[in-house]
Amino acid sequence: MRFLLPLGLILLGASLVPASAAPLAPRERILFDDDWRFEKGDPADLGDALNYDKIKPWLVPATNAFVAPAQAKTPPTGEPAENVAYAQPGYDDAKWRAVTLPHDWGIEGPFDQALPGETGKLPWMGVAWYRKTFTVPATDPGRQFFLEIDGAMSYATVWCNGKFVGGWPYGYTSWQVDLTPFLEPGAKNVLAIRLDNPPESSRWYPGGGIYRNVWLVTTAPVHIAHWGTSITTPQISVSAATVKIDVKLDNATTAAAKAQVLTQIYRLTTKNGVLTRVPDASSTGAATSITPDKSTTVTQTITVRNPQLWSPAHPNLYVAVTRVTQDGKVVDAVETTFGLRTVEFTINDGLHINGERVSINGVCNHHDLGALGAAFNVRAAERQLEILREMGVNAIRTSHNPPAPELLDLCDRMGFLVLDELTDTWARPKKLNGYARLFPDWHEADLRALITRDRNHPSVIAWSTGNEIPEQVEPVGRALSKELTAIAHDADPTRLVTTAAHFKTSGYDGFQKTVDLFGYNYKPGEYAKFRAANPAIPIFGSETSSTISSRGEYFFPVTNDKRENASDFQMSSYDLYAPGWATTPDAEFRGQDENPFVAGEFVWTGFDYLGEPTPYNTDKTNLLNYSNPADKARAEQELKTLGKIIVPSRSSYFGIVDLAGFKKDRFYLYQAHWRPDLPMAHILPHWNWPERVGQVTPVYVYTSGDEAELFLNGKSLGRKKKGKFEYRLRWDDVKYEPGELKVQAYKNGKPWATDVVKTTGPAAKLTLAADRALIANDGRDLAFVTATVADKDGLLVPRSKNAITFTIDGPGEIVATDNGDATDHALFSSPARKAFNGLALAIVRTKPGGAAAPITLRATAEGLTPAEIVIQPAK
Ligand code: GAL
Repeated sequence: MRFLLPLGLILLGASLVPASAAPLAPRERILFDDDWRFEKGDPADLGDALNYDKIKPWLVPATNAFVAPAQAKTPPTGEPAENVAYAQPGYDDAKWRAVTLPHDWGIEGPFDQALPGETGKLPWMGVAWYRKTFTVPATDPGRQFFLEIDGAMSYATVWCNGKFVGGWPYGYTSWQVDLTPFLEPGAKNVLAIRLDNPPESSRWYPGGGIYRNVWLVTTAPVHIAHWGTSITTPQISVSAATVKIDVKLDNATTAAAKAQVLTQIYRLTTKNGVLTRVPDASSTGAATSITPDKSTTVTQTITVRNPQLWSPAHPNLYVAVTRVTQDGKVVDAVETTFGLRTVEFTINDGLHINGERVSINGVCNHHDLGALGAAFNVRAAERQLEILREMGVNAIRTSHNPPAPELLDLCDRMGFLVLDELTDTWARPKKLNGYARLFPDWHEADLRALITRDRNHPSVIAWSTGNEIPEQVEPVGRALSKELTAIAHDADPTRLVTTAAHFKTSGYDGFQKTVDLFGYNYKPGEYAKFRAANPAIPIFGSETSSTISSRGEYFFPVTNDKRENASDFQMSSYDLYAPGWATTPDAEFRGQDENPFVAGEFVWTGFDYLGEPTPYNTDKTNLLNYSNPADKARAEQELKTLGKIIVPSRSSYFGIVDLAGFKKDRFYLYQAHWRPDLPMAHILPHWNWPERVGQVTPVYVYTSGDEAELFLNGKSLGRKKKGKFEYRLRWDDVKYEPGELKVQAYKNGKPWATDVVKTTGPAAKLTLAADRALIANDGRDLAFVTATVADKDGLLVPRSKNAITFTIDGPGEIVATDNGDATDHALFSSPARKAFNGLALAIVRTKPGGAAAPITLRATAEGLTPAEIVIQPAK
């Protein structure tokens, strides 16, 4: 749900999140990201007065909006702490740093090698404050003011004009506070927000800060409630769809209010790249009366004729514009984007969307955006999805937490299925200060907030209440799972509920009956047994593979032992290596192919992420992944050994795509399997091995064909055919000689695709290529520019690590650089970046308020011909 746009045209892309469109009075939803002041730490004399345990009684009443009235909590009287200096309106914050949201203070660094691997070696822990001074116009006295925060990491507490307002501890939940009693329209107002990230609170890099968008929402006293529209589609056929719209109205006046609700549905269609609204069906007005200080829900049923169904292949969308009128005057209006589709997890044939089988070719992703950290950026997320789509991905698991709302908008629009997940922990901690600390007081509210916010997205196909919950094997875990499933059913009766299970026994000991849909993590060998034991429960691979590799790194000899081939804090890219609990991609493909009733998989992970640099963790989080005690003991021993080394690794090796967004070889293994109709072939490794002349240097080919012939310097090394359940072609005994490797792939006996890899000359020049030459001039849109170290013929020089310096001219700035090397400790904000195996990335943004003039990015490196590229901001 978002505020109302003028009907007519809105641009595709980032502008789907309408920051600047004129709202229809009287509701306003203003992006509140600018002009914040930021300071780390608490005021000197504060002590522990604002520790969560002390202020919890003032915070927990925030859950009242989501729990039964009997469970409602009343806050204590008075303020949780007196005279907190930073919260006072008169406090002089002029010396604080000016920041624009979304903001992540952790990503600013510096890296600290001594920090545990899980942290990303970045300083996101501790307390920080944000302040903002603003005015709102003095209008009619009944105006309501809400501050909506899409996500703040974490334990957020809010003051307005020196008075405590409320907050929300779980950093991934979106929430709002009511500012109405605290704001002074027409006068200067000051918001102060305190965040507190305890150490030992996450198994991965969570970021720190108000890392998602913040909105100021203004409404009339009688208005549609927060996330107050719910759209379901009880019936969908080719000729008609029944759309049921529940609209929750709040009455903040002291008198009973009469109101009319009317909804108009528009079909969204793209004409010449522009999103256009075509009026479709409309409701008749429904009259209602709302008692003072209460809510009421109005239900409308609308028939859409000849519905354009939503699916990954055809992500058709509709928008419902709901207006509330009083005495013939529109007092509120919101719009809700939705889609028409049926989702059915069948027992024998996986997932059906609109009655047709869709295999879940999914990836799990954490929320960080690499060099940008946790600070959400629509374009960065869109780029990730574009890269994944090219690979054949059609589904995302938001592991292990609620995503930014805009990610779901993108998934709706681009046709991705989403498994929307609540948490990594229930009541039993994985980390000392993790979500288990919040679970007892907050789980119902967090789960209901997630579902209420996300329920209208057609992309969301199921809810996940948790990941690898340690207590799942005990009665207490089964009881909690039941409870969470029941809450989810109550909040959304239309979607199935799952929990990602990592214990084999959970498929048989009763845990499987606490969910609607069973998800196994890393158990391709278990699917058939599960089906035999549970003939009525649909199943999918909630987390799979966890292969580890570093882009462009290959170690010899190549062994088939998945625990080998780690060196120099990098992992070999022959895609055979994985931690003890994990498998190769091929083993999971086989598990899926042998058991076609399985609905598909979510690979760990699409993109590399900050933190969890398995196998180079020195902390014990690794051990959580083992359900087998013998494996766990072995890993414990290994960790002890590794613990003696100071590990530099600050990001993961699991990604199919590296942290900078560069494809690893594995990308093509998945593409070959998931896009069988795309003619493609990919050779690995690179062919620059001067020290290996005459030595065995295996060559693998990933192809969507079924057969291929490999040539080295024109000589055939043999034609090979994929056997049953074989997904890659291997020439294991190739002896290296410099020159050219060429593959000719075949499908059904016919030439299908080719690939060539050549030994390159020495590095001679840099080249630059941007993902888009034209970017919006809004201070938010980004260009991702790839620098390649090339030889004189323009071929990427493998193993090159040249130090590159980026400079920029014109109204743009370099936001961050990266190279995908998990051991690189240069600040992400640094314009100097070493290439990692031939590549480096610069992320460029227009300067806020800058002119729409060309931006020139230059890359230089000693001894290489420099390169430059022009990025054009759109007018
Ligand atoms: C899983 C866990 C993920 C990640 C992964 C690494 O067991 O659910 O969060 O830790 O292991 O292989």
